Parts: sequence; structure tokens; C-alpha cells
Amino acid sequence: MSPRAHLVGPVPVGVDPDEYDRVRRRVLWKLTTGLYLVGSRAGERRNLMTCSLVTQLATEPKLVGVSIESGARTLELVHEGRAFVLALVSRVDRSVVRSFAKPAVDDPAAGTLNGLAYRPAPVTGCPLPLLAAAYVDCRLERAVDLGTHTLCVGEVVHAGFGDGGEDVPLLRTEDTRMSYGG
Ligand SMILES: Cc1cc2nc3c(=O)[nH]c(=O)nc-3n(C[C@H](O)[C@H](O)[C@H](O)COP(=O)(O)O)c2cc1C
Repeated sequence: MSPRAHLVGPVPVGVDPDEYDRVRRRVLWKLTTGLYLVGSRAGERRNLMTCSLVTQLATEPKLVGVSIESGARTLELVHEGRAFVLALVSRVDRSVVRSFAKPAVDDPAAGTLNGLAYRPAPVTGCPLPLLAAAYVDCRLERAVDLGTHTLCVGEVVHAGFGDGGEDVPLLRTEDTRMSYGG
């Protein structure tokens, strides 16, 4: 294997490939992203996952896209359950996203995932944290395999704000010391 076999994608001519790789990653980390919890469910199996690769994709129909690691438990549940719910998180709740960067432990009797209380999302029944500042409940419209990630395109079947109403400041990746992608 060549020493630079780890380099992904084209490298412009005349630049040092390793230095370019570092800069490219740092630029991609600067893309502005929110930080969300994605709830998924297939039967009685549920999960919540921290997710930043999220955006609206179309207005008619109302489509949002969530890009999910191909090996993630969430992807398996979204494929099986054909749905997901996107929970928008208040900036004051930034600490919760740390708990959902690995598969979560469900306690259905208590109605918690990793100790965080949830309720079923209104249409899909996916786990929606009670602390969500707002939510977008989605039926899976299609899934596009992109290699490391699968773009899950969801049609919005319900949406609403949490108890704090519309003006709650929302969490963005840049509000944390975490980064993802790159
Ligand atoms: C700041 C941050 C952002 C993340 N964004 C994403 C994302 O957009 N897509 C993704 O698949 N994983 C993302 N992750 C990683 C997942 O949270 C983590 O791999 C997760 O445990 C995988 O999901 P699972 O619990 O469904 O297996 C992110 C992690 C962090 C810390």
C-alpha cells in the first residue's frame, strides 16, 4: 500500500497531499450545522443518535435529509421502521448530545433512553425526547447509499415546538467542542 493510500478523493496538482487533506478536513468542519438527536424505532427496538449532517431538501413535498453512518444501529432501525424523528435541541441542553454518540440503552418501562425521557412521536411513534425544543416527524421517503453514509430522505408528517415555544436558542455544532465529518 502506498503511504498516501488513506487520502480520499482528488488532490489538486502542486500541493502537498497530506497538508491538503488536513486543510480540506478543517474547511469541511466549518460548514455550519445544527446538532440534533435522531430517534428511530423498529417494533420495540428504539435508538437515539447525535447527528449533525441534517438539512431540508425540498419544500414541495416537504423533505428533510439526515445522513447516517452505514454501520449505525439508527440506520438499521430507520430502514426497518421506515421512519425517523428529528429532535431539535436547545443550546442549554448541549450536554445531552454527548450521551448519544453510541447506541443507547432503552428502558421502555421507564420511557427512557440512556436515562433521557421520551414519548412516541405523534405519527411515526419514534422516540422523541421530552426536552426537544422542536421536532420534525418523518416517514422515510428514500434512502441513498453514499458510501460511508446513507442519506435518509424523510417526508415531514408532523412538526411542532416544545414547551419553550418558538424562540428557544437552538444548538449548533459550533456551540460545542465536538466536530464531525471533514
Ligand atoms: C458532533 C457529532 C455529530 C455527529 N453527526 C453524525 C451524523 O450526522 N451522522 C451519523 O451517522 N453519525 C453522526 N455522529 C456519530 C453518531 O452519533 C454515532 O456514531 C452514533 O453512535 C452512531 O449511531 P448508532 O447509535 O445508531 O449506532 C455524530 C457524532 C458527534 C459527536
